[in-house]
Amino acid sequence: MKVFPSGAALGARIDGLDLAQPLSAADDQAVVAALGRHGVLRFPQQKLDGAQLKRFAAGFGELEINVASGAYQEPGHPEVMILSNIVENGRPIGLADAGQGWHTDMSYSRDIAFANVLYGIRIPRRNGEALGATEFSGMQAAYEGLPAAVKERLEGKTCLHDFNKFWEMMRQEKGSKRPALTEAQKKAKPPVSHPMVLTHPITGRKVLYANPGYAVRVNELPHKESDELLEFLFEHQLKAEYRYASRWEEGDVLMWEDIGTIHSAVADYRPHEHRLVKRCQVMATRFIPPEERA
Ligand code: SIN
Repeated sequence: MKVFPSGAALGARIDGLDLAQPLSAADDQAVVAALGRHGVLRFPQQKLDGAQLKRFAAGFGELEINVASGAYQEPGHPEVMILSNIVENGRPIGLADAGQGWHTDMSYSRDIAFANVLYGIRIPRRNGEALGATEFSGMQAAYEGLPAAVKERLEGKTCLHDFNKFWEMMRQEKGSKRPALTEAQKKAKPPVSHPMVLTHPITGRKVLYANPGYAVRVNELPHKESDELLEFLFEHQLKAEYRYASRWEEGDVLMWEDIGTIHSAVADYRPHEHRLVKRCQVMATRFIPPEERA
């Protein structure tokens, strides 16, 4: 296995691994180390079925079955979610607008996520250029780049994360077909709190853990101060020096770690420009022991 860093704040290409085969212990450790160092890894030219994608992802932690994904699951593999704008016989085959805004997956959950593993099957192109990139920003560097006074202010603070915030943001988008969450769905996903500064389980570095998609409130501050602090952090964490955009090729497996990054799917393609990506959500069960979880 060879690691080729992107040269940007995040991102590396990994050559020499066939993810359809189980990873050796040495390759597993090398992938984990590369993930800590680069945050986002692209494994080009893979050929995976649903079971193989699932097996690779499950090596890094328990897989989540997304309650909101409903029909958009790989038959026989509910842990594999289908993200796509393709409509067949009048029926969408996947969730079309997944992740189109800055967020961290599962920050709204008591048990947080460790990683996402996506497999690109159809990637839209225009004039030869791939569309539908996935953008990232690095939260280890973003924490380090905070003014000392803000770091001090964040000490001991917790933030409330709400699944419904991102869902509603997506619903407000033009052409959104998402229905409002039902009361039962909201009940199944009540807002949860997490410390605003986490220690990264691979690198041991501090991480800013508050993202525009789900973070709604700094619990320990009055409303106005909470809003001001979050607004400052949301702007700070998207500075150009922390950013990286991964451009897709068909056959790519794109894996990123969720504790030290935030991400956004770029919606720059039209309904007839088809994108089909399969996704597994890896929870932090391997890297955060049960007694350290919220
Ligand atoms: C996601 O947020 O998991 C989707 C990212 C993408 O489709 O590029």
